Order: sequence, then C-alpha cells, then structure tokens
Amino acid sequence: MEINGKVAIVTGGGSGIGRATALMLAGEGAKVVVADVDDAGGASTVVSITAAGGSATFIHADVSDPAGVEGLFSAAEALYGGIDIVHNNAGIMTGGSPNWPDASNAKIASVIGVNVAGVMMGTREAVKYMRKRGGGAVVNTASVAALGPMPMDPIYAATKAAVVLFTKSCAMLKDTENVRVNAVLPGMVDTAIIAKTGDGTTPAQWLAPALAVTKMLQPEDIARQVLAFIRDDAAAGQDVVVANQR
Ligand SMILES: NC(=O)c1ccc[n+]([C@@H]2O[C@H](COP(=O)([O-])OP(=O)(O)OC[C@H]3O[C@@H](n4cnc5c(N)ncnc54)[C@H](O)[C@@H]3O)[C@@H](O)[C@H]2O)c1
Repeated sequence: MEINGKVAIVTGGGSGIGRATALMLAGEGAKVVVADVDDAGGASTVVSITAAGGSATFIHADVSDPAGVEGLFSAAEALYGGIDIVHNNAGIMTGGSPNWPDASNAKIASVIGVNVAGVMMGTREAVKYMRKRGGGAVVNTASVAALGPMPMDPIYAATKAAVVLFTKSCAMLKDTENVRVNAVLPGMVDTAIIAKTGDGTTPAQWLAPALAVTKMLQPEDIARQVLAFIRDDAAAGQDVVVANQR
C-alpha cells in the first residue's frame, strides 16, 4: 500500500516505538492520529510531526477501554474522512518485583487488557472502518518475549504470545476484507518501557549480560519494519522479528 495520503492511527504514539512510527508515517505523507493515555507525550509527538511539515492530531485513548477504542476510531474518521492504517502498538510490562507469582487480579487484568484486548479491539475496529475504504493494513506490536520463556515477566510474555497467534489467525482477513494484519516482534529497544522492566534491579544491572554481547535497537529500527509491512501488499498473518544486533 502506498502510504502517502493515507490516514493512520498509532496507539502508544506518545513515546518510543509508536512515536517513531508516527513520525515516519507522517514523513511519508500519511495523516496520523496519535493515540495515547499520556497526553504530554502524545502532544509532543504531534508537535514534532507538524514542525517537520506533517499532519497529525493527538487523541487521548485508553486501548484497554472498549468505549475509548470505539471513540478513537470514530473521532479519527470524523477528522480525516476514513482509516487506512492502524499500528496497535500500546503495551505495558507487569512491573514490580516480584511480578510473579505475586501479581494482583487487577494487575493481571490490566496487562491483558492493554496488551491483548487492546490489540483485538483495535484490529476489530480497524476492519470495521477499513471495509468502507476497500481495505487497509494493521500492524500489531508483539515482542521476542512471545518466543520463549521470560521468567522476569511471565504475564507479559504470555500476552505477547497471544498477540502473535491472534495476528497469524487474522491472515484470512486479507482474502475476506482486504485487510492485512501482521506483527512485528522487537528485541530490546531503547525506550521508556525498559525502566519499567526487570527483576527489581536497575536496567543497567539486568541488561548488563545482554548488552555485553549485543546492541540495543532504536525505535526507528522497529518503525521501518512497520512501514515495510504496510507497503507489502502480499504480507498477511506474518510475524517478523527485529533482532538485536551483535
Ligand atoms: N522497548 C522494548 O524493548 C520492547 C521490546 C519488544 C516489544 N515492545 C513493545 O513495543 C510497544 C511499544 O513500547 P515502547 O518500547 O515504545 O515503550 P514506551 O513505554 O516508550 O511506549 C508505550 C506507550 O504506550 C502508551 N500506553 C500504555 N498504556 C496505554 C493504554 N492503555 N492506552 C494507550 N496507550 C497506552 C504509553 O503511555 C506509552 O506512550 C509495546 O507494546 C511493548 O510491549 C517493546
């Protein structure tokens, strides 16, 4: 799909990977709706986009809240006339130490709500709106945490594995709706989420063994793969790892 002139929603667009994707999409000529619960972060992404000559609007939306998700999509359509691209990217770690097995019911529900239900509702609404335009592209942010055991945060790992299988199971939407749903699986990326990750030690401590043998990714490394999925009219139900470099 050509990106220029399209309308895109990026959730978690106020920081990190979402911000980088929002900036890159706007740089390619998309009109971008930046969605986030962080008003200051979302507003600052919009300032960066407009300063560079692009089009963007911030909409406060909690992806785990059904009314928030529905409101986001209807507001985006009212603003820009339709929706062609959705990056379901907002995500949280469980946080706290230990986060397992001593996690509250509220915490379990919240991580599943943002990381899994948020992606499912975002994809459902995307299809509903893209149908009216004859199709579109959805990219879900999973994680390499989906691929193996993650004792540091089992709840997070399980939610990201769910995003991968959900995305694979949506491959058929390419044929039935002309909506292509794909997932990007980042390795460790230098964003704010890293500070909320870990086993109670500081990021410098828990990352040390990994950083001794590999380099952190930058948010733009992931944004490039998101744009590659959007452009590739054959990609559907795929999960692509963006691995840390050695
Ligand atoms: N940074 C990494 O190492 C890494 C690795 C693999 C996957 N990921 C995934 O990438 C995605 C983006 O994370 P990031 O690294 O850019 O972190 P980040 O913390 O910089 O950005 C996440 C953004 O999501 C927003 N957000 C959180 N809960 C939300 C909600 N309920 N509704 C709307 N917005 C919400 C936050 O306010 C924040 O702006 C997440 O899904 C994360 O799990 C990150």
